[in-house]
Amino acid sequence: MATDAGDAMPRFPAGFLWGVSTSAHQIEGAAGEREASVWDVFTAEPGRVKDGSTAAVACDHYHRYREDVALLAGLGVDAYRFSVSWPRVNSPGGLDFYDRLVDELCAAGVRPVPTLFHWDLPASLDWLRRDTAARFADYVSVVAGRLGDRVGTWITLNEPAEHTLLGHALGAHAPGRRLLFDALPVAHHQLLAHGLAVQALRAAGAGDIGIANSHGPTWAASGEPADLEAAGFYDTLLNRLFAEPILLGAYPDGLGELMPGDVAADLKVIAEPVDWYGVNYYAPTRVGAPGGADAEYGGLALPAELPFSVREIEGRPVTGFGWPVVPEGLTELLTTFRDRYGDRLPPVVITENGCSYEGLDDQDRIAYLDAHIRALHAALEAGVDVRGYFVWSLMDNFEWAEGCAQRFGLVHVDYETLERTPKASYHWFRDVLRAQR
Ligand code: BGC
Repeated sequence: MATDAGDAMPRFPAGFLWGVSTSAHQIEGAAGEREASVWDVFTAEPGRVKDGSTAAVACDHYHRYREDVALLAGLGVDAYRFSVSWPRVNSPGGLDFYDRLVDELCAAGVRPVPTLFHWDLPASLDWLRRDTAARFADYVSVVAGRLGDRVGTWITLNEPAEHTLLGHALGAHAPGRRLLFDALPVAHHQLLAHGLAVQALRAAGAGDIGIANSHGPTWAASGEPADLEAAGFYDTLLNRLFAEPILLGAYPDGLGELMPGDVAADLKVIAEPVDWYGVNYYAPTRVGAPGGADAEYGGLALPAELPFSVREIEGRPVTGFGWPVVPEGLTELLTTFRDRYGDRLPPVVITENGCSYEGLDDQDRIAYLDAHIRALHAALEAGVDVRGYFVWSLMDNFEWAEGCAQRFGLVHVDYETLERTPKASYHWFRDVLRAQR
């Protein structure tokens, strides 16, 4: 891969927040010590997870969190983004775990940045139902009441777009529904849950609140009108549908008419101001008119009735997952958002960026991260107000429908022995952070 790795990394502003991310279901394990989530149910269905693995043990972080916090301290990050498992909080002693984790992080001088929902919905709940949003706000109040004395930064939801699309429209993730456009209420209810959670957090005295949304540039397959139209539609679904209700208080392109409930009233809640806007960036998507030869999405065949198809981005290295490596897509995404939303876009934090590769001497990961951090700096130089960058992920973990086959970690996890081994990228990122001090 062409890379500038080795050249001095440009300097980021003082106070820029450097961190790494994980999520509860992907690392905690100890599934028997909490109630079930939709992911436990889904994983138990034959054929849902590619390598047949489960997250019952995962990285056993629930029992090994002290060792993992020591890894964070050794890395020298300012902040650690983890998620709070709603099913665990519903279970006896569950909140005590996050209490201990937050204490351990504070003692290590690492800022805790909890995400309140990262896809592991309690199995008894359903985002198709409106009252799930209110239940979420109740749970958020409980968590904020317990951790708010030590947690100063909060994330409401992780990637409602992927949870809607993969979980409810295409059926590749839990809860495994293939509703296509009938999944739109799931998007609305999560956005409503976000707005209600912001209100609940503010009522609990919390500040510094954001959301982690997945975004990426959409590139049209060609300049033909049919391809441009399809790409515009995809951009609306992935980017605008989840950004604009929050930033502008409006759904794009009449999509609000397809949403359930009193949408105008809900939008007022959804647009509750956030302090910053989190972006998870992995790669752009090339999109064309329906029926393109490579019509699939992340290895998943797309139903023919969709008004777009996803095409290969050619001429790029790909990660272990087959995702194209396009660092400048991050600069493009951020400048596009700044141009689209102007003053309505609060400061941005990259809440996830990373790649899956095998091996301990992961030079490909180093090249990927190096190039993306430089691309982020280019966005700063272009005037985008970016305040932080979090690598996905601290350690290898349960990669959803891929099971344990895709490794995104700076730290290798042996799933037999649960031994953690820092990879070359861990040492590299530590040195990048040291040089920024
Ligand atoms: C999710 C993570 C996931 C990562 C890599 C993001 O969509 O938030 O949970 O592991 O991408 O696929």
